[in-house]
Amino acid sequence: MDEYQNYYQLCVVCSVQENEDLEIYIQTLEPLSLSVIPVSKEIVQIQALFFEEKKTPGLTDVSWTVLSEDMWNQPDVVTINGLKLQCPKTVFGHGDHPTTQLCQEILRDCSLTSESHLIDVGTGSGVLSFLAWQRGVSSIEAFDIDPFAIATARQNARDNTIPEEMFSVSDLFDWQPQKKADVLIANLPIDILERAFDRLRDWVILDGLMIVSGLTTTWASQFEASLGPSVSIVKKKILDEWGCYLLKVNF
Ligand SMILES: C[S@@+](CC[C@H](N)C(=O)[O-])C[C@H]1O[C@@H](n2cnc3c(N)ncnc32)[C@H](O)[C@@H]1O
Repeated sequence: MDEYQNYYQLCVVCSVQENEDLEIYIQTLEPLSLSVIPVSKEIVQIQALFFEEKKTPGLTDVSWTVLSEDMWNQPDVVTINGLKLQCPKTVFGHGDHPTTQLCQEILRDCSLTSESHLIDVGTGSGVLSFLAWQRGVSSIEAFDIDPFAIATARQNARDNTIPEEMFSVSDLFDWQPQKKADVLIANLPIDILERAFDRLRDWVILDGLMIVSGLTTTWASQFEASLGPSVSIVKKKILDEWGCYLLKVNF
């Protein structure tokens, strides 16, 4: 990577309206040295390798997923707990990110039965749902706002002979559960977690559990202070600069 030291590698995934013309993206972006790769009818992946100081005029209204070098270098197929999972670079869920690892650890400590209902918010590659499935949980609702993530999770389900119907595309601010969860997992960016917290809690049964991850330790005390009496902290785990909570719903 030495010769690339002054470069950023970017990969952007955009969801495109069905009736939108991909040619417009190609005409706008290719002169900026960004290559546009249609992934499906509705999604384009835009890749670039460019100088640190390079400006990207015309890209202000697209939503960016900027990959760190570590993420960029991750393999596209990973094996987790005997499951072979595809995980394209733009999909979160290689299993080795501290926020995912912490969820895995806390999930391992939760008592799950074949009767448990699990909600996995922002499922990414589906990794946490698959681990719960391996523990005997068959009633799972898992969703993600990113259609590319859900296409990946569904492919992973098929590859591992797990029902793919549990995965759907949805924004958590529109979504409603079919039934309340015994265990809810939410590994989400902090700003979304904060805005969505009450909504997420309402999807969990009384005495049910929430695994909340994605908080940096600098945010942890603010997050804890924001929790009212409706939940109590059962466990808190820290890895690198990330914190993850197991919460019990009181009312
Ligand atoms: C940090 S990743 C977690 C992925 C996986 N659950 C894991 O633990 O590795 C967060 C996921 O939340 C999804 N997400 C972000 N905002 C969302 C929203 N409003 N509704 C549903 N999913 C959302 C992202 O697309 C991303 O896949």
